[in-house]
Amino acid sequence: MTTGSIILAAGKSTRMKSALPKVLHDLGGKKMVEYPLDILTSLSDVKPVVVVGYEAETVQKVIGDRAQYALQEPQLGTAHAVLQAKPLLDGKVDTILVTYADMPLISQFTYQQILETHQTHHAVMTLLTLHSETARGFGRLVRDENGNPQAIIEEAVATPHQLAIQELNVGVYCFSTEWLWEALPRISISPKGEYFLTDLLSLAVTDKKMVKTVSLADADEAIGINNRIHLAEAEAALRKRINNHWMLEGVTILDPTTTYIESTVMIGQDCIIFPNTYLRGKTIIGEGCQIGPNTFIQDTQIGTGCKVTFAVLEKAIVEDQVDIGPFAHLRKGAHLAQGVHMGNFGEIKNSYLGPGTKMGHFSYIGDATIGAEVNIGAGTITCNFDGVKKNPTEIGDHVFIGSDTMLVAPVQLGEGARTGAGAVVTKNIPAYSLAVGVPARVIRKLEKPDG
Ligand code: UD1
Ligand code: CA
Repeated sequence: MTTGSIILAAGKSTRMKSALPKVLHDLGGKKMVEYPLDILTSLSDVKPVVVVGYEAETVQKVIGDRAQYALQEPQLGTAHAVLQAKPLLDGKVDTILVTYADMPLISQFTYQQILETHQTHHAVMTLLTLHSETARGFGRLVRDENGNPQAIIEEAVATPHQLAIQELNVGVYCFSTEWLWEALPRISISPKGEYFLTDLLSLAVTDKKMVKTVSLADADEAIGINNRIHLAEAEAALRKRINNHWMLEGVTILDPTTTYIESTVMIGQDCIIFPNTYLRGKTIIGEGCQIGPNTFIQDTQIGTGCKVTFAVLEKAIVEDQVDIGPFAHLRKGAHLAQGVHMGNFGEIKNSYLGPGTKMGHFSYIGDATIGAEVNIGAGTITCNFDGVKKNPTEIGDHVFIGSDTMLVAPVQLGEGARTGAGAVVTKNIPAYSLAVGVPARVIRKLEKPDG
């Protein structure tokens, strides 16, 4: 048994009112189309076929070589779209999963269920249905008196009797390849000039072929996205799904409705996430951390036992037992070693702070390498930009930087050096020396502590 897959993404999606193709809209940190793409990649024996049409090049550019492409031009309906994939799959697979790119919440489990049902019963067509009182514009599944599926009727052409049917066509199908290619050309054109994939059901019934249905248990999976209200609904459902996953993995989330965790993020056990927290991209958080409230973390690695409050962290590395915030900003390349304390109103960019270093209040550290157990006094600034280029600052272990020190880079402070409050350091300070004034001058040597 070999399986292929087709994702339909050629439609114009007028209702989104967007310059961006619908399937490229962001959802929980991924593009909408990436949800079916990732799942079907793992379930298919050949690369999924994405049927593109409207803004085809833009869609292809984003997906790249993760898929193969069939161009549908003009877009004459979902059946016509599937037919465009024939040259890419013909003779290569005997079973084909078909899904719509605007149904991103269908789970891998559901796709597997459809595939298994299809194969077990040797069906020519297996489709996913949902029992729901709200129809959301979906097609209705008509069954005969014995409960056998007969037809899918699109809402636009349904009779009042059919409109009352509460079993809906979700839009995920499995087909026997041979029958699919043979049946598709027999679909007749709708009054609106489209070929409906859904008409395959009545063809299978006419052919006296086996048709099976799989009933969807979780209605959230069937959230299809035709406009931005649906997009927000899908986002909320996805957020709930991700938060539930982490809570079951041992993470405390105080208020799941205001906790925004992207699907790519990893979180250790016994972390506590406070409200209004965003965890995004390739962020990894170790065990036992307290994150938030009001915190935004993007592509950042955090060790165990850290505390981050009211902070923005982007592309940074934070080792164990680090304490950040409130009101702190870590930018790209910030690296805080074990036990660092970074208090309020600080910014760190492209800099390393060694173990146990403290930076309590109002500082900017950029392009600096700072040793262990350094005290960075309130208001310390690395003046790293001379108007042309960025210059480095190097600070040894056990340095004590007095409040309001300006470190005019490039500059080095040797181990155990000290600056007086308000010093403007323009020249290197040797180890164990005290420098004061503007510009700072060394006024005496300091005793090197024993050990
Ligand atoms: C479709 C189903 C409907 C189902 C609903 C569930 C048909 C005829 N109807 O309706 O029974 O309840 O989905 O979401 O299939 N597309 C193409 N080429 C085309 C037309 C559409 O690639 O020529 C793509 C669209 O980009 C979209 C998907 O197919 O990703 C579905 O099209 P859409 O217009 O959204 O169909 P619905 O009206 O939602
Ligand atoms: Ca749709």
